[in-house]
Amino acid sequence: MRVIIKENYDEMSKRAAQIVAEQIRLKPDCVLGLATGSTPLGLYKELIRLHREEGLDFSKVITFNLDEYIGLPPEHPQSYHYFMYQNFFNHLNIDPRFIYIPHGMTQDVERFCNWYEKEIERFGGIDLQILGIGANGHIGFNEPGSSLGSRTRIKTLTKKTIEDNARFFEKMEDVPKYAITMGIGTIMDAKKQLLLASGKNKAKAISQAIEGPISQVVPASILQLHRWVTVVLDKDAASMLKMEYFEE
Ligand code: F6R
Repeated sequence: MRVIIKENYDEMSKRAAQIVAEQIRLKPDCVLGLATGSTPLGLYKELIRLHREEGLDFSKVITFNLDEYIGLPPEHPQSYHYFMYQNFFNHLNIDPRFIYIPHGMTQDVERFCNWYEKEIERFGGIDLQILGIGANGHIGFNEPGSSLGSRTRIKTLTKKTIEDNARFFEKMEDVPKYAITMGIGTIMDAKKQLLLASGKNKAKAISQAIEGPISQVVPASILQLHRWVTVVLDKDAASMLKMEYFEE
């Protein structure tokens, strides 16, 4: 595991963008695994800048998103579809045929999840998976207790997540209770992992994931078993790490 500690969120985002850009330059038709949430926003912004100012070409890149809420149509402002188009895809020369995000409105979830796994396989697997981490150590929507071998499937959101999301919806009944997420096994199949974390509220999860025991209680700790993992942190997220880390 390579752990890179940067001064702040901006530097973390730029360093992560360098890694993604290197991957795209190395293999222009690479398959990227993408995350939503606040953490990768700076990375996406920097990739957009690299596209506009330095011609970073996304025309052959294939993307698979980690997760999506069940019951939200793509045009819903809280859907991950909407988030990805607003914050990333709309600003790049990416081919819409190569954008994969779980369908929150699918009528047959199990069939959809199997299809999603097969599509990842059909493109030769994910080359580089971008990950954020939950304060409880989750990756994707794989909350503590998720099987470490799990594949793409439906997950019930925790009470805490549902309550946290309530502020984005008019009525409590509108808050999604389920999501489709790539499994931990699906994530682990990616050839390379790029985990980002920023802020003090991630420090405990990061120390447990990187320096703690491998356990389904902290799903991100499974990354210790992966052959190629780069973790890019800001100082706050790294503040509870005990071992010594250096970039070169
Ligand atoms: C989002 C995802 C989640 C987030 C995590 C951190 O697609 O898979 O696991 O990465 O919840 O979220 P933020 O970045 O908002 O702190």
